[in-house]
Amino acid sequence: MIRLEQVERRYLSEEIETMALRDVDLEVDAGEFVAIMGPSGCGKSTLLNMLGTVDRPSAGRYLFEDRDLAALDEKQLARFRGDRLGFVFQSFNLIDELTVEENVALGLAYRGEAGNRRVRVAAAMDKVGIAHRGRHFPHQLSGGQQQRAAIARAIVGNPVLILVDEPTGNLDSDNGRQVMNILAGLNEEGATIVMVTHSPSHADQANRRIDMLDGRIVASARLL
Ligand SMILES: Nc1ncnc2c1ncn2[C@@H]1O[C@H](COP(=O)(O)OP(=O)(O)O)[C@@H](O)[C@H]1O
Ligand SMILES: [Mg+2]
Repeated sequence: MIRLEQVERRYLSEEIETMALRDVDLEVDAGEFVAIMGPSGCGKSTLLNMLGTVDRPSAGRYLFEDRDLAALDEKQLARFRGDRLGFVFQSFNLIDELTVEENVALGLAYRGEAGNRRVRVAAAMDKVGIAHRGRHFPHQLSGGQQQRAAIARAIVGNPVLILVDEPTGNLDSDNGRQVMNILAGLNEEGATIVMVTHSPSHADQANRRIDMLDGRIVASARLL
């Protein structure tokens, strides 16, 4: 599904060059659940942003379903993301002024007619167990509920690839477990997931674990 070939990402700031990614070769098959681990600053979020096409390689290639994404302009990339990808972040990134329902509907971008959108939003909320919270605002929810709302927003458009950056970093262990169970369920239903995590036990719920250090992938191991 995904292939990164010799991907590099350099940042230049105040004459200091940071190599956030170097020599990254990575293949992810459809249906995999990949966990990425590594110390802070090693390039995990940069890699996820690359996979999510919100960042571009300084060198190397990114192929998605055998298509080189370098050929797409920003508008085409935005459409590609809207159609194919879902994002979940540590800080939930819900919009405070919108209800949970409205936040989830954002995941549909501007697709679908109204009746159909409502059905899809309701189904996504139901799937993550927040169906009864649709009219609430994010601040009226617990952290765990907010993260589940963010997952509903990520999956409402039926993405083939879900990119997740430290989803349980702001949650207590019970809520973290719930979020992991939801992700595992989505993977069982066919979604491909790439997840950055600091939790070894959460990484163990994936099918493969990748370790990063200093911008490189230093290990990749299949898990049972
Ligand atoms: N926009 C940016 N400008 C300059 N340096 C950046 C930027 N984003 C990330 N970096 C640097 O790239 C490296 C990797 O960052 P990041 O991918 O966020 O690491 P991680 O998610 O593993 O903590 C770090 O050294 C970080 O400071
Ligand atoms: Mg990070």
